[in-house]
Amino acid sequence: MAGRFTKDEMMQMDPTFLRMHLRERVHHTIEHQLYSIIHQGRRPGPAFGGVVREIFDVWQARGLPTDLPDIKWMRTLMELAERVKRGEQIEAVPGGYLPEPLNPQDMQAWEKLLLGRRSYRHWDDRPVPSWMVEKILEAGMWAASGCNLQIWRFIVIEDPEVLRKFANLEFEVEKVKIVCCVDTRGYDQVQYPPPKKNQLLDVGAALQNMALMAHAQGLGGCWSTFSQQQIDGIHRHFQLPGYIEVVTYLSLGWAAEKVLPPQRMSYSEAILAWVGKADGNCAGGKDRPGDAMMVR
Ligand SMILES: Cc1cc2nc3c(=O)[nH]c(=O)nc-3n(C[C@H](O)[C@H](O)[C@H](O)COP(=O)(O)O)c2cc1C
Repeated sequence: MAGRFTKDEMMQMDPTFLRMHLRERVHHTIEHQLYSIIHQGRRPGPAFGGVVREIFDVWQARGLPTDLPDIKWMRTLMELAERVKRGEQIEAVPGGYLPEPLNPQDMQAWEKLLLGRRSYRHWDDRPVPSWMVEKILEAGMWAASGCNLQIWRFIVIEDPEVLRKFANLEFEVEKVKIVCCVDTRGYDQVQYPPPKKNQLLDVGAALQNMALMAHAQGLGGCWSTFSQQQIDGIHRHFQLPGYIEVVTYLSLGWAAEKVLPPQRMSYSEAILAWVGKADGNCAGGKDRPGDAMMVR
């Protein structure tokens, strides 16, 4: 029994779900604990890493690929888990990341990207090269995802006829449409399933990453909404299986309009509470140093 499944069950399991099961078990039974063991001196239990090892053995026994990026990462974590279990001291995780502040120039570029992204709804005739679309998709996949389940799936539409078929009547037909979907297979069967709404959050995070990457490449995009009729139409057109849920989309092209940034409310208006403020600075000017803001 590895997690909630027997070896026989895992031998028969859909490989996509087996891979999800593996990622979820790595996340909950190795990743969290490993960093506390390395950095906070917690001691690994005798079974540490065992469940993942059993699932991974099945993965290998089935001849499933072991050089996929997420599988390689899981193998690295499994090796680290073995090392700490043997009592080895690991000073620093090889290849590990620590957040570093950007230098002023990079910060300027970052703010230009983040604050300069806008929604564009008119495009010129230039096509969008595929390598740009690929970069955008890759950026989407680097978003956070609940329990690292990575359930987002995409459909890229560049065919003008299909684009017209699923056009947003509020704006011009785009050059590229990235339809964002969820692969719901097995989502509620992993050991600690995240709440269902995380599926939408995962897709939203991926879409925002993609919009930013499009903007960084000088493209204009708009996050947009399907009607239920369009969602059904996409399902039929692409003959999607029932476990794929169509959620939302990103329209892309070379923007042929200048838009004014829709101004945001002040962030201090959006804060419902800020308790135990660490440094007492109050840039918004709404609270006094040390005050807890009351829920409004
Ligand atoms: C979930 C979501 C759905 C959206 N749907 C549409 C849409 O159907 N049509 C549209 O023109 N814009 C749509 N937008 C874009 C918003 O109108 C736009 O982000 C907002 O007005 C702020 O403008 P900005 O993106 O330029 O900052 C959507 C944005 C989000 C996040």
